[in-house]
Amino acid sequence: MRIDIITLFPEMVRQAAGASIVGRAQTAGILDLRVHDLRDWAEGRHRQADDAPFGGGAGMVMMPKPVFAAVESVLADQGDAINDAVPVLLTAPDGERFSQAMAQELAATPRFVILCGHYEGIDERVRETIVTRAVSIGDYVLTGGELPALVVLDAVTRLLPGVLGNESSAEDETFGASDHHLLLEYPHYTRPAIFREMAVPATLLSGNHGKIADWRRQQSLVRTREHRPDLWEKFLPLSKRDQKLLDAYDDEKERKAEAG
Ligand SMILES: C[S@@+](CC[C@H](N)C(=O)[O-])C[C@H]1O[C@@H](n2cnc3c(N)ncnc32)[C@H](O)[C@@H]1O
Repeated sequence: MRIDIITLFPEMVRQAAGASIVGRAQTAGILDLRVHDLRDWAEGRHRQADDAPFGGGAGMVMMPKPVFAAVESVLADQGDAINDAVPVLLTAPDGERFSQAMAQELAATPRFVILCGHYEGIDERVRETIVTRAVSIGDYVLTGGELPALVVLDAVTRLLPGVLGNESSAEDETFGASDHHLLLEYPHYTRPAIFREMAVPATLLSGNHGKIADWRRQQSLVRTREHRPDLWEKFLPLSKRDQKLLDAYDDEKERKAEAG
């Protein structure tokens, strides 16, 4: 998988992308990440990449010329061109909301480019012609597209075959690919079994795999019902097994409340 990130702050991206899973994926040759400095395509003594907005107003706007040149040049080094099959993503707070489904889609493409916005954003002609998809990581405004690009990079990289130690771990996760993709993940515990008088749920220590699977499923159901009513609505109706697990949880909770 080849990912190109075009940014005014390449060091910010390179540093974060060198660590942990994304760093290891590069060392293992699974991810070919290229981080480009947009100023390499900017002209003049000051390599200016931004200018004042037409019509006035606060802030600066990234100029189309260096952005077009950068994307064309980055695509050309593998014989690709604008509007070929290679997706060009633009980070933008008003873009399509980034999701696990989008990460899965991107992980299945051999190559894509991320264009990081800065200042007030990028000249709209870039968006109209070069950009395949504008992507937002949430309803808040960041200073630049570098953190959103890293979010996309991380979420996609961990889905690439061979990147995670245990291949099934991405499947089981919250928003994973398996049947319970609308459910949040169950809680995790590790040693010690008792920490500051807090005990790990006994079922997890029982060695009974059926009971452990039931407990995890029950916890996923409860968490989703309590924390993400939007996902819960989509997940309903419950199967008989899920209804039974949920009823057992609610009964137990009621019993505890009555017992004080
Ligand atoms: C200060 S923001 C520009 C905000 C823009 N003037 C607006 O009101 O929508 C600068 C850049 O950061 C990036 N950015 C900021 N928030 C983002 C978000 N939630 N998701 C994705 N990119 C974001 C975009 O690339 C954007 O062009």
